[in-house]
Amino acid sequence: MVWNKQNPYLAELLSAKRLSGKNSNKEIMHYEISLGRSGIRYEPGDSLGVIPLNNHNLVIDIIDRLGINPSTTIEGYQNTVYDLLKSQFEILTPTNRLISYISQNINHKELEECLKNEDRTLLFKFKYGMDVLDFLNLDNNLKIDLKIFLTLLKPLQHRAYSISSSILEYPNKIHLTVSTQRWKKTSKKYGGVCTTFLADELTKGSKIKVFLIPNRTFKLPKDTSKSIIMIGPGTGIAPFISFLHERKLLKSSGKNWLFFGAQTKKDDFIYENELVDLQKNKVLDKLDLAFSQDQVKKIYVQDKMYESKLEFFKWIDEGAYLYVCGDALNMAKDVESMLHKIIQECHNCDSEESGLYIKNLKKEKRYLQDVY
Ligand SMILES: Cc1cc2nc3c(=O)[nH]c(=O)nc-3n(C[C@H](O)[C@H](O)[C@H](O)COP(=O)(O)OP(=O)(O)OC[C@H]3O[C@@H](n4cnc5c(N)ncnc54)[C@H](O)[C@@H]3O)c2cc1C
Ligand SMILES: NC(=O)c1ccc[n+]([C@@H]2O[C@H](COP(=O)([O-])OP(=O)(O)OC[C@H]3O[C@@H](n4cnc5c(N)ncnc54)[C@H](OP(=O)(O)O)[C@@H]3O)[C@@H](O)[C@H]2O)c1
Repeated sequence: MVWNKQNPYLAELLSAKRLSGKNSNKEIMHYEISLGRSGIRYEPGDSLGVIPLNNHNLVIDIIDRLGINPSTTIEGYQNTVYDLLKSQFEILTPTNRLISYISQNINHKELEECLKNEDRTLLFKFKYGMDVLDFLNLDNNLKIDLKIFLTLLKPLQHRAYSISSSILEYPNKIHLTVSTQRWKKTSKKYGGVCTTFLADELTKGSKIKVFLIPNRTFKLPKDTSKSIIMIGPGTGIAPFISFLHERKLLKSSGKNWLFFGAQTKKDDFIYENELVDLQKNKVLDKLDLAFSQDQVKKIYVQDKMYESKLEFFKWIDEGAYLYVCGDALNMAKDVESMLHKIIQECHNCDSEESGLYIKNLKKEKRYLQDVY
């Protein structure tokens, strides 16, 4: 059977465990999902697509705000409005279409100004953390016809999660490492659609719609004697847990160096015991840790790279593969800037040459990123 976005596999949740400590700012969860008889075969670097359902209370609040009945049906759709909003549309993050429509139909000077202004950061700041319901509530007199409302929403999307297990160790299970997204604005609490669906709505034995998202590029070197350097702060560590177990079971002779970063050692050092074991078993040759908030001045993974710049450059220059996973917005860019700096200082060259060096690493598929 081929499982995909249109035809997802109904997998069973085997377990859910919080990895981050009780004083952490983050809620990092470890999920174990059964592959049952699906026949799904994954490789390190692949992700799992999870198809979530929207939060019940949010669905009901929107239905109330629209002034309709949950069992209302609408021409052109087979399901009730409750089912449509629960499983078919994104009802948390507002689309630009919805924001423009609302602005045109209410009298809200600030929103109007943000939309008119070429500087998109104004709108970004205005809408940051706001959900669809907040936009509907900008003016209590706003009335939207249900049919129009639905045209202003996007279809509900799946979310991807890097697989953090190795099929050689767990032929019938997939592990995920997920940071639950929760935030507050004024006194209202919000939660990301999929991460809170996993954390709040599911219990052991619950069924989840999933499908494999293979990644053809973010792969371990075929030549198992090649060394690898993995840079994965936060949930970016997920594929590297998979890489390390795979390399252990394949008895790969290449060396393994991991850079991991998190806010505090006490509450955010996820997979600590596993990494210590991998070090004891001589699988993980080098582990560099950057706990950003354990001292006054922040330390990030790229600072640890710089501290070991000579050895770091030697590994790369001798053919090691470099992998980066995690936050795309800041981390991946800052890591690349540091890579430039290290190459320039250790290879004694200028920015043009470090650019060519990195371009070549990419061409040889020895500098691979999986950032989001
Ligand atoms: C290939 C790939 C692999 C990935 N692997 C992982 C992984 O291993 N682990 C992992 O945790 N994630 C991973 N992700 C990210 C994941 O797919 C989701 O994007 C993420 O979990 C958020 O999904 P959500 O449905 O909970 O949030 P959504 O409903 O999509 O909401 C996210 C939105 O919420 C808002 N928001 C979030 N936090 C705040 C805040 N503090 N204040 C204000 N607004 C906020 C923002 O507008 C943001 O756009 C990966 C992504 C990709 C593409
Ligand atoms: N789009 C964004 O703005 C953004 C930013 C961060 C995370 N995220 C997303 O949030 C989810 C979960 O993230 P997470 O909690 O696992 O990890 P995370 O927020 O990426 O944090 C992990 C570690 O990385 C540090 N860090 C922050 N900025 C960095 C930078 N520029 N370079 C290197 N390290 C940096 C953090 O330090 P401090 O927290 O102490 O600064 C922390 O110690 C992911 O989906 C990620 O993509 C998005």
